Amino acid sequence: MIRASVRDALSRIQSAFPRREDLETLLSLSDPDETSYLHAKACAVRNTYCQERIAVRALIEISSVCKNSCNYCGLNRYNGEASRYTMSNNEVLKSGKLAASQGFMTVVLQSGENGRTTESIAQLIAQIKQEFPIAVSLSLGEHPYEDYLAWKRAGADRYLLRIESTDEDFYRSLHTDRSLSTRLECLAHLRRLGYQAGSGIMVGVPGQSISTIARDIQFFSENQFAMIGIGPFIPHPQTPLAKCPGGDPLLTLNTIAVTRIATKYPWMPATTALGSLNRDYRMEGLMAGANVIMPNFTPQRYKSQYAIYPNKQSRAETPESLEHLGKSANLAIDYGRCDSLLPEWNTCTPIA
Ligand code: 5AD
Repeated sequence: MIRASVRDALSRIQSAFPRREDLETLLSLSDPDETSYLHAKACAVRNTYCQERIAVRALIEISSVCKNSCNYCGLNRYNGEASRYTMSNNEVLKSGKLAASQGFMTVVLQSGENGRTTESIAQLIAQIKQEFPIAVSLSLGEHPYEDYLAWKRAGADRYLLRIESTDEDFYRSLHTDRSLSTRLECLAHLRRLGYQAGSGIMVGVPGQSISTIARDIQFFSENQFAMIGIGPFIPHPQTPLAKCPGGDPLLTLNTIAVTRIATKYPWMPATTALGSLNRDYRMEGLMAGANVIMPNFTPQRYKSQYAIYPNKQSRAETPESLEHLGKSANLAIDYGRCDSLLPEWNTCTPIA
């Protein structure tokens, strides 16, 4: 049985300005019939706007060094027990080559906010673009406009920077020496430079409420991101949030589904965090409207050191395992670049 109020909320959030109360109603669903209905609706929206496919992105975690102090992250600078590494450009190129040889058309370079020079990262991007015909996504945190400009000029295509939260006080409680305004400014710079911009949040971070999540989804809907990553919070033992409970899998899936219905076009990963709970929930993520899988191409010896949370599952995947995931979710695996599907993307003028 699906309540009429649920059906109504579902049809209303497809409009340009979803109401907070409707988003909250849907995020809070727990009845199996109603959650199945919500998730199935999200899949239908995904299939209409993004086609019945899963994009694959090769993830390379290029450095675990970080000067930021996010309360939830195992790589924050106050964690003296974290092991720190930085891959050389040659090592990254080797991983990129492996990904390209397996047919991947996107590499995602992710790291903490580290001490590498802007120039050496620009060189790395240029080298990758020169050697392989693939898209480069960056996920390197907050940087000055000039850095984003240098990396765009070097050939970077996309940038992922999760907003983490649009609630200013909550944001400040998680990032003691940072502010929401800086993060918004970074996202504005990335857009202005013509990056395909991605954002996202964690679900279940202590202090977050259904209402906070609903407002974040309104932000996604108003700002139209090419990519949105949503995963459960997983407590890391060497952080101030060590003793807090982790994010609830069902609320995470509902958040993916509601975001999909409200925003329609973004590439949304079934995140690594979703695959790192007591079991692998990525399949459920795909069944709730996600459409990206990011196999991990970080060299084996570094994988365990990139510990943003414990028990992180850095699956490499094989063509067969990807095919299997696709078949089970009724989706084709798309090895193409899978660029932004936002309607305005084609009319956006990238920086020269
Ligand atoms: N649990 C889940 N996700 C986390 N992230 C960082 N720390 C954790 C954690 N403990 C997420 C953040 C960040 C992304 C790279 O990983 O949202 O933006």
